[in-house]
Amino acid sequence: MVDNQSENDDEERTNSAQSFDLDLDEVVLDDEPDGDNQGLFDDLLDSEPIFENKEVLRPSYTPHELPHRKEQINKMATILVAALRGETPSNILIYGKTGTGKTASAKFVSQELESTSQKYSVPCDVEYINCEVTDTQYRVLAQLANKFIDKNEELIDERLTEYEALREDIEDDSGDISDNVGDVPDNGKASEAPANTTGTTSPLDDTEFDSVDELDDRIEELRQDREEMEQVPMTGWPTDRVYSVFFEAVDYRERVVVIMLDEIDKLVEKSGDDTLYNLSRMNSELSNSRVSIMGISNDLKFTDFLDPRVKSSLGEEEIVFPPYDANQLRDILQHRADVAFKPDALTDDVIPLCAAFAAQEHGDARRALDLLRTAGELAERDQQDRILEEHVRQAQDKIELDRVVEVVRTLPTQSKLVLFSTILLEKNGVHNINTGEVYNIYKSLCEEIDADVLTQRRVTDLISELDMLGIVNAVVVSKGRYGRTKEISLSVPIEETEAVLMSDSRIGDIEDVQPFVQARFDN
Ligand SMILES: Nc1ncnc2c1ncn2[C@@H]1O[C@H](COP(=O)(O)OP(=O)(O)O)[C@@H](O)[C@H]1O
Ligand SMILES: [Mg+2]
Repeated sequence: MVDNQSENDDEERTNSAQSFDLDLDEVVLDDEPDGDNQGLFDDLLDSEPIFENKEVLRPSYTPHELPHRKEQINKMATILVAALRGETPSNILIYGKTGTGKTASAKFVSQELESTSQKYSVPCDVEYINCEVTDTQYRVLAQLANKFIDKNEELIDERLTEYEALREDIEDDSGDISDNVGDVPDNGKASEAPANTTGTTSPLDDTEFDSVDELDDRIEELRQDREEMEQVPMTGWPTDRVYSVFFEAVDYRERVVVIMLDEIDKLVEKSGDDTLYNLSRMNSELSNSRVSIMGISNDLKFTDFLDPRVKSSLGEEEIVFPPYDANQLRDILQHRADVAFKPDALTDDVIPLCAAFAAQEHGDARRALDLLRTAGELAERDQQDRILEEHVRQAQDKIELDRVVEVVRTLPTQSKLVLFSTILLEKNGVHNINTGEVYNIYKSLCEEIDADVLTQRRVTDLISELDMLGIVNAVVVSKGRYGRTKEISLSVPIEETEAVLMSDSRIGDIEDVQPFVQARFDN
């Protein structure tokens, strides 16, 4: 060993003066006068002082530990444990604003439930559906149907393998018995009915089958079921057909099913409450299985839109996830930071500041984690080896700007025109902009691009919407006997917002904006 080591060292020394612990391949590369790259990535690869494992800060990561959610998790478990006893758990409705840990807690509980059910061989299935992605009744039912069809097929395959093996054993056995028939006194029936032969054991003992025929029938039946199972296509069938296939698939065997519908408010908003109505009355018709629903909503008022029957059935149990306060957010961040960052990568103020910003943002843990990750990325980009307070502040600005860009980008054209009018006025130094001024510019812009012109009343509403989105600030001021008007100012960075608006092809087409603003002074 020692000899080898010194030999290697010698070799390296001859190749490269500085490197003692490089292996031979690297040494050879070093030797080439110019290499075949200019080291664009080398520096970046070398300097990784910040992150140890960035993935744990991403929303897709499911933490194993959820501080400050014990109460909610225990309550879910207390209700769902019924499923492990073969009973039907009450339906549960979970409420809470975004980033309060609803999805993470529900996934954690469902993993525990499934693994415990496997441990005790209780037939209990949990199906998770994100209704923001799967947002129509058809798709929810089809996705569920296909999952249960898969499970049923798996079950059938398992059974078939088992029964076919049993069938083979019987054949082998009956072979043995006829070979030894001379030894068995006075029993000519041995090969005909192995199960009932006194004094001999048969593979069918301890099974549900009394005779080989029964076993054969069962195998035949399973093979037929297997053939008849058909996946539901993602579009095209009438919904009641999808529903009945789903129903049959669930009821194929005895089991308790917990269906988790995350972002359930999005489903109801988009497609009404038919899905929930159908799912919540299934139990009265199922004969082998039982279904329990767990709905998760970001919108505290979403049950107002539900049919009263659905509302009372779904809300048998309610669990509220309150926003986190700054101290709780600190704990949550600290747990993740320990895994995510290199030791010493964080200065002391970083976690408290991320927590404080996110606490203002309705106690959103997602925002807190985003801030921490973005601050780390900014520090990395600065080639710092520690995250500083200023990186957190920059991260806050960046995330806020990203949000604004996204909101502005997805505004309807009419709202974009209203916003653009406000920007044009501000850029021309107009202060205390009022609704009438915005409306005049808005009208000329509409004519320019051939858009419908809304009434001033509607435009006032659009301004209020922009206000609620935090894009403009509109305050009502009294003008004495001239009534009241709104004074409007931008709440977002003007350059960036204008750039997003100009990237809309219709608005980008507006040629010379100057004359429109002139209109203000003409009116
Ligand atoms: N108590 C907690 N402990 C650790 N991480 C948490 C906790 N609560 C939320 N998170 C994390 O915050 C982010 C948002 O949580 P999530 O469960 O998706 O919120 P919601 O579904 O309520 O919008 C996720 O990355 C999640 O892992
Ligand atoms: Mg969620």
